[in-house]
Amino acid sequence: MLALLDFARAVRDGLSKPGQRELPSIYLYDEIGTALFEAITFLPEYGLTRADERLLRRHAPAILEHLPPPVVVAELGSGTGRKTRWLLETLARREPVNYYPIDISPSALAKCEQELAVLGAVSIVGLEKSYLDGLQHVAVQRRPGQTLLVLFLGSTVGNFDRAAAEQFLREVRRSLLPGDALLLGTDLEKPVAEMLLGYDDPTGVTAAFNLNLLARINRELGGDFALRHFVHEARYDEGERRIEMHLRSLRKQSVTIREAGFTCTLEEGETIWTEACHKYRVEEIPGMAARTGFVCEGQWVDGEWPFAENLWIAAAPAAPS
Ligand code: AVJ
Repeated sequence: MLALLDFARAVRDGLSKPGQRELPSIYLYDEIGTALFEAITFLPEYGLTRADERLLRRHAPAILEHLPPPVVVAELGSGTGRKTRWLLETLARREPVNYYPIDISPSALAKCEQELAVLGAVSIVGLEKSYLDGLQHVAVQRRPGQTLLVLFLGSTVGNFDRAAAEQFLREVRRSLLPGDALLLGTDLEKPVAEMLLGYDDPTGVTAAFNLNLLARINRELGGDFALRHFVHEARYDEGERRIEMHLRSLRKQSVTIREAGFTCTLEEGETIWTEACHKYRVEEIPGMAARTGFVCEGQWVDGEWPFAENLWIAAAPAAPS
């Protein structure tokens, strides 16, 4: 299967990097990883998802006011549908809704479809594709007069470094027409100790979520990682303004990954970097919008957990002078 070959290649490339070894964070979300992330969203130390959901519940009508009907909704990353529900419900009171969750994980799509099946007036078509391929698929089918609303919630954008995020958002803009919208969820900077606790909870759920990546490599690629010899670590990089999750090797050890035809030796104390979660300031968001072909029309910030919902409208391209 192609997906498995991609996974094997990504693991081999990331682990053979000179200097800091890496594994791509997208591979954290297999069925077990998705379930562990879901558990994370209930932890008292991790308020991000609940803040996102609160904002959508409270402000769905105000957000939708900016979008002329009929609206077609595409979501990058289907999550479980728990937070999207509020927007779709509000929209469905106004008009029949077509909703396209886009995710490379079939188990995430299935969960989302299940969870939202209760919304009678919403037709759901899950797309098992990469974000940009899925979005392009929705964009080419849209009819004249429809407004496309793209949801990119949960601060998933934070997984990209800042330059890559803007590159990605520019790509999203290329699939849109002027007047279409992007609703972007961004987690905001907080005191460092609070942020660290959110990514290193005392219950160890986040540690399990991180370690599961090695377990997944063992399961799917015939790896022989000894999970006991790694520990989860969360750090904050003040310059980059991001949390980094790492897995630290507790001893010098060799690991073989059969399906990748690959062996590597990790030193005692060496880490594998598995995820980046960038944090934002509300004031920097309008500039990001302007640089990527949007206008930031509205921002809603949660009062309990600093998190912002940002509504961007696709701008008309500048007229040639
Ligand atoms: C799903 C990428 C938004 O960055 O906070 C949570 C992932 N990792 N705890 C985040 C995550 C560890 C989460 N995102």
